[in-house]
Amino acid sequence: MESAVREGGVVTDTHAVTQKLRPHAEDAFAGELKALAAADDRPRPERWRLSPWAVATYLLGGELPDGTVITPKYVGPRRIVEVAVTTLATDRALLLLGVPGTAKTWVSEHLAAAVSGDSTLLVQGTAGTAEEAMRYGWNYAQLLAHGPSRDALVPSPVMRAMSEGMTARVEELTRVPADVQDTLITVLSEKTLPIPELGEEVQAVRGFNLIATANDRDRGVNELSSALRRRFNTVVLPLPEMAEAEVEIVARRVDQLGRSLDLPSVPDGIEEIRRVVTVFRELRSGMTSDGRTKLKSPSGTLSTAEAISVITGGLALAAHFGDGVLRAGDVAAGIQGAVVRDPSADQTVWQEYLEAVVRERDGWKDFYRACREVSA
Ligand SMILES: Nc1ncnc2c1ncn2[C@@H]1O[C@H](COP(=O)(O)OP(=O)(O)OP(=O)(O)O)[C@@H](O)[C@H]1O
Ligand SMILES: [Mg+2]
Repeated sequence: MESAVREGGVVTDTHAVTQKLRPHAEDAFAGELKALAAADDRPRPERWRLSPWAVATYLLGGELPDGTVITPKYVGPRRIVEVAVTTLATDRALLLLGVPGTAKTWVSEHLAAAVSGDSTLLVQGTAGTAEEAMRYGWNYAQLLAHGPSRDALVPSPVMRAMSEGMTARVEELTRVPADVQDTLITVLSEKTLPIPELGEEVQAVRGFNLIATANDRDRGVNELSSALRRRFNTVVLPLPEMAEAEVEIVARRVDQLGRSLDLPSVPDGIEEIRRVVTVFRELRSGMTSDGRTKLKSPSGTLSTAEAISVITGGLALAAHFGDGVLRAGDVAAGIQGAVVRDPSADQTVWQEYLEAVVRERDGWKDFYRACREVSA
């Protein structure tokens, strides 16, 4: 294993970062994080890798005095990022709320990477998430052989974050059953996790905090209890206000994804991205972009994230089966799939939109034809 280096007992492959299908944020942007840490002379909260200012710069992008360019990870209001970062430096936890595809998970991962250098202390919330996932479990072989002991205890990511002073992440908190959610109340208010079986507790050390994400659309599935909600500062991530901002987000992410999938870069793709974003925004808002025609909205969310997958899929088609240039025909099937979730109602909405809006639009003839072809 020539490329393997031993680091603190862990064998790491030096090529692994480039070979992993999806490296963690702290690995993918290790260079930027290092440059920020070196340039950062502002005060850092205990156990933070960077100052709050540097964390915000990491998320929003910027240029360091030595010329290092920090790429923007989140495109959106600066204030939102500042409030989110500052919250993590207080005794309140951070709840990122928003409709699907507004970068809640993405922001949570990058925040944890920048603050703690580790975004992997993660609990994925589902309807089946059990208390052990939030607190701790047991290694049953050890437990049966030697009885309950620290050695037999399997700490959850939250418990590890507490004892190491790191950032824990809980995804989709509102999908978690209410009684399991409530295990977080003691953690967040008393900063302790009792282990009754051992008559012990794990007390959080400074640097510990928690970022949860929750989807607006899941509201009511498992409402956050008011006791728990009071422990969080809620930051709502909005949909991109301006079309151009959304085009930029899509273009940037598609470019990053395309590179990790070895897709040839398509410089002329921006026009197609603009059209896909326009279609998504118009259908989402129920109004054409000139504000003249009212439209029916389909049942799907048509989020920025979905626009990113439609374009990425289109690029793959263009690269493997087309002439390497992204054209309407490469994205049409993807758009149709995103818009028509419910085969009957959405199909009607889509047909009406195609006939009333797309067909009449200057310079969109190829787009209209391509969409008609796949929906026929
Ligand atoms: N404002 C934005 N700035 C940068 N990237 C964005 C923005 N909005 C969406 N994205 C991109 O959209 C993709 C999906 O985001 P993410 O998975 O974090 O959404 P989410 O809010 O967690 O959605 P869900 O509710 O479905 O879990 C990411 O690749 C992210 O880069
Ligand atoms: Mg998410």
